[in-house]
Amino acid sequence: MLESLDTIKKLALSELQKASDMEALSLWHSTHLGKRSQLIKSLRNLGNMAPKDRPIIGKHANEIRNTLEEAYKERISHLSKVMQSASNKDMSLDVTLPGRPLNRGRLHIATQTLRRIYTIWADMGFQIYRSREVETDELNFELLNIPLHHPARDMWDTFHTNSPGVILRTHTSPGQIHAMRANAPEPIRVILPGMCYRYEQITTRSEIQFNQVEGLAIGTNIRFTDLKGTLSNFARRMFGTSARTRFRASHFPFTEPSAEMDVECFLCSGDGCGVCKNTGWLEILGCGMVHPTVLNNGGYAPSKYTGFAFGMGPERIAMLQYDIDDIRHFWGNDLRFLEQF
Ligand code: DAH
Repeated sequence: MLESLDTIKKLALSELQKASDMEALSLWHSTHLGKRSQLIKSLRNLGNMAPKDRPIIGKHANEIRNTLEEAYKERISHLSKVMQSASNKDMSLDVTLPGRPLNRGRLHIATQTLRRIYTIWADMGFQIYRSREVETDELNFELLNIPLHHPARDMWDTFHTNSPGVILRTHTSPGQIHAMRANAPEPIRVILPGMCYRYEQITTRSEIQFNQVEGLAIGTNIRFTDLKGTLSNFARRMFGTSARTRFRASHFPFTEPSAEMDVECFLCSGDGCGVCKNTGWLEILGCGMVHPTVLNNGGYAPSKYTGFAFGMGPERIAMLQYDIDDIRHFWGNDLRFLEQF
């Protein structure tokens, strides 16, 4: 019995030397030290032997098991060293290879458009005034001459919060009230940029969040001609010196009179194309003379002060400029879209 254990050991050790990768090693381990190996079987078989032989054979078999486990571990560490040095050789440093370029981030297309708009208005003497995105119903609607339950509210589908009267602003216009109350009775020239939220069905043309840039000028002797001249000047700076504009009558509760400004289509120069839907004109913004009620709510006596206001959507403008067909791309976080700008 002792001799046959020695044969098992000799065979196992010689086969271990032949195992030259991790797969062969694991096969070796299950063959020679696994549950079904001869060695382990003979250890389990001790109970069937003559009681006087048991301690001698048991001891010997256990020694062999330990020797084999030791040898196995040594072989593993030897082989992994050999493999490591081989792979080091494969990966040796080639200093002549060009470096890997670092991925550089970029400004989001909406941010780029916003910054162009800021620069233009700054050049025309308008300051940036920021106001909050979580608003009250009072500021977002009532003080802008849109009373509770008035049908005009249908123009703005609203996200409400759990606190009564607290909503996400549906437009940047409540900033007008903030700016007026902070400055009355001083003259004002500000733009109010930022994110707005609407509870809308998301389509290629409408999103639940988007930026707006509101503008407000308050003073004495500000007239509709000032509005037209200033906004046409903006259009020339934004879309090119030959950009033509036209004003169409419109309605907003917070301005009177109200208008919408179109720019001659810069893709087809007015001939008609897909982007301007063959009209030759692109709608850019809403505007008007600040309503007397709104002036009053802001702390300016309408008998003395007048002003104009406007609101535009930078994503909409970028869509026109770059012929982007789906507003959902802006906040979809798809690099294939974002990296084009
Ligand atoms: N707040 C309007 C909207 O979201 C846009 C707008 C129109 C703003 C006319 C103005 C304005 O200041 O005078 O649809």
